[in-house]
Amino acid sequence: MTADTDATTRNGSGDTAIESTDLSKQYDTPMGLAHTTMQALKDRIKLHYDLASDYYLNLWGEHIHHGYWATEESKANDSKEVAQINLIRLLLEISSVSSGSRVLDVGCGIGGTSRFLASQLGCTVTGITISTKQVELAKRLTKTEAAKDAKDATTDDKVEGEEEGPEGYIRLGKGKVRFIELDAEKMGEFFASDAGKFDAVWISEALSHFPNKALFFQNAYKVLRDGGKLALADWFKNEGLDQKQFDDDIKPIEDGMLLPPMCTQADYVNLAKEAGLKLLGGPKDISKDVSKTWDISWSLVQNPSLWAFAFSQGRDGIAFLQAFRAMRRGYANGSFRYAVISFEK
Ligand SMILES: C[S@@+](CC[C@H](N)C(=O)[O-])C[C@H]1O[C@@H](n2cnc3c(N)ncnc32)[C@H](O)[C@@H]1O
Repeated sequence: MTADTDATTRNGSGDTAIESTDLSKQYDTPMGLAHTTMQALKDRIKLHYDLASDYYLNLWGEHIHHGYWATEESKANDSKEVAQINLIRLLLEISSVSSGSRVLDVGCGIGGTSRFLASQLGCTVTGITISTKQVELAKRLTKTEAAKDAKDATTDDKVEGEEEGPEGYIRLGKGKVRFIELDAEKMGEFFASDAGKFDAVWISEALSHFPNKALFFQNAYKVLRDGGKLALADWFKNEGLDQKQFDDDIKPIEDGMLLPPMCTQADYVNLAKEAGLKLLGGPKDISKDVSKTWDISWSLVQNPSLWAFAFSQGRDGIAFLQAFRAMRRGYANGSFRYAVISFEK
C-alpha cells in the first residue's frame, strides 16, 4: 500500500497543505457546517453506518479504527490490517484487560475487536452499536469465523460454531461474542441487571461520536465491577487551539466525520475522574504513529465509483470523503490528535 505522498505539499506560508485530487475537486463542498441538534446528528450517524458499512468492510476490512505503526520497522513493513491489530494490542497493554474477561465493546463496528478478544483471549464479549446493519454484518462475519473454526477443529476438539446460544452468544475459540443494536447512551439502563459485572469496557473510536461524554463515563462506572478496566482509544483536538486552527482543521473533521464538539485528552481524564474512575495508563498520544492511516485511506478512496456512491447519499456522503483531507491536514498541523487512555474502577 503506498501513501498518496504527492498530495502532501508545502504551501507558500510554510504550513503543510494537503492538496485535493482531480477527483475530489469535482466534488468540492463547503466544509465546517455546524450540526443542528444532537438527536439529528445521532440519526445521521446511524444512517451513515447503515449505508457505509459494506464499503468499510471492503476498504478497511473488519476493523474500523486506525492502524498503529510504532517503530520505523513497523512503518516500513506492517500492512494496515497488521497495524490495526497493533492498536488493539497497545490498548490491551495499557489497560491490562486480561484473558477470559467479560467485556462490553461499546460502538463495536462490525465486531472486529470483539471477535479478536473472544478468539485470542477467550473473552466473553458483548458488542453494541447504534447501527442495525453493523449488527447484521458483525453476526454474519462471526458465524463465518466460527464455522471455519469448527471445520478446522479436530473431532476431539470440536467447537460449537455457528449457533447462537440462548443469550445470543456465538462461540469463538475459547471465548464467545454477541452483538446488540443499542444506543450506547442507554447502556446504563439496558445493562442495569448486569451493573458491576463487567471486567472491562472497551471503546475504540466511538466516544467522539457521543453527544454526552460525561454520561458515557458514568455508565462505564455503573457496569464495571470494582477493579474493572476501561480501555479507550479516540480522536481529540489539541489543547489551546486558536480560532483559525479550529476553523481550518477541527470544524471540517467534526462536520464530515459526524462528531459533536471534540474534546481534548485532558477533558476525558477529567470527565472519567468525575464519574469515579481512576486513571490507569496514558493518555498516550500516538498521533505520529497512526496518521499514516489517512494517507492510505485517501489513496484508497481515489475511486470514481466511491465518490459517485457518496454523492448519491447527499452532502453528508461527500463531506465524509472530503474530511479525509481534513484529517491529514489536522495531523500534519498537530491540531488533531489521537490517544489511548485506560482507567480503573
Ligand atoms: C469508527 S467506528 C469504530 C468501530 C469499532 N470500535 C472499531 O474499532 O473497529 C464508530 C462506531 O461507533 C458506533 N456509534 C456511534 N454512536 C453510537 C451510539 N450512540 N451508540 C452506539 N454506537 C455508536 C458506530 O455505530 C460505529 O460502530
